[in-house]
Amino acid sequence: MSDAPKAGRGHIAIRDLTVRYTQHGSSIDAVSNVSLDVQPGEFVSIIGPSGCGKSTLLNIVAGFLKPSDGKVLLDGAPIKGPGADRGVVFQQYSLFPWMSVRKNVEFGLKMQGVSANARTSAARTLLGLAGLLAFENHYPDQLSGGMKQRVGIVRALATSPQVMLMDEPFGALDSQTRVVMQEILTNMWQQLRLSVMFITHDIEEAVFLSDRVYVMTARPGRIKAEIPIPLPRPRTPDMTSSPTFLALVRQLKSLIREESLAAMGGELGARGLEGFDRSLAGEGMQAVL
Ligand SMILES: Nc1ncnc2c1ncn2[C@@H]1O[C@H](COP(=O)(O)OP(=O)(O)OP(=O)(O)O)[C@@H](O)[C@H]1O
Ligand SMILES: [Mg+2]
Repeated sequence: MSDAPKAGRGHIAIRDLTVRYTQHGSSIDAVSNVSLDVQPGEFVSIIGPSGCGKSTLLNIVAGFLKPSDGKVLLDGAPIKGPGADRGVVFQQYSLFPWMSVRKNVEFGLKMQGVSANARTSAARTLLGLAGLLAFENHYPDQLSGGMKQRVGIVRALATSPQVMLMDEPFGALDSQTRVVMQEILTNMWQQLRLSVMFITHDIEEAVFLSDRVYVMTARPGRIKAEIPIPLPRPRTPDMTSSPTFLALVRQLKSLIREESLAAMGGELGARGLEGFDRSLAGEGMQAVL
């Protein structure tokens, strides 16, 4: 892999990254020796078992955390901290409840000193793309979860970042809303073509949205596999029943299953049945014992 950015902006390059957390005198490696790329305008998902270091990776690229070892570059320059070139969307909605939808979207532009007219116009264009223009004067507590998250995405896009970092943005939504959100996101991405690093537990979601999917191992997270998603663009809901889509989902599920078992096996194996009073076991458990 070369560190040199390809044409366009928004190239994330992670090289031999290790992130170590130290707490109460003991330390654990959350991710170990990870190298990956998100090319300019590419949509890349990261999946892996719970606790394997996905959010840690995203927080490193966001500039909220520093590498313990290795390099993290944006367009060839080391990431030194948070910046307006990277928009971040988390699972929890983080809108300002005292501001209208449009004012929430305009906030980042206001901080950058953009004039009132220009920021209103930019906010209205993006709200239109997300199907939210009719709600520009509503307040967050008047919106559904899906709508709040769409405002969150639009707000992160308002400052024209080169990169969007999304950590399970649809994780709190019901499955029907989630599917609609995936369609809205893929349509917006199709028009804006910025680089996206997307974290999810939902394998169908990763396949539907992505150009490539990285699969991580159980902690300490390493890259286990890199799977290209050769489905055509623009993505449409009917693709989710195509043989290619289903085969990719099957392949990714099997890769993840191995790692989830490894993650859980580690936990269970460490404790075993130590201290368990076998005489208390019911019939089903006795069969296992
Ligand atoms: N601030 C912290 N201090 C100490 N350990 C941490 C800290 N943040 C995360 N960890 C540990 O690092 C590992 C990776 O955490 P991380 O949140 O990155 O995982 P994840 O893959 O995002 O998990 P999930 O899928 O459950 O969101 C976990 O074992 C976690 O307990
Ligand atoms: Mg996480």
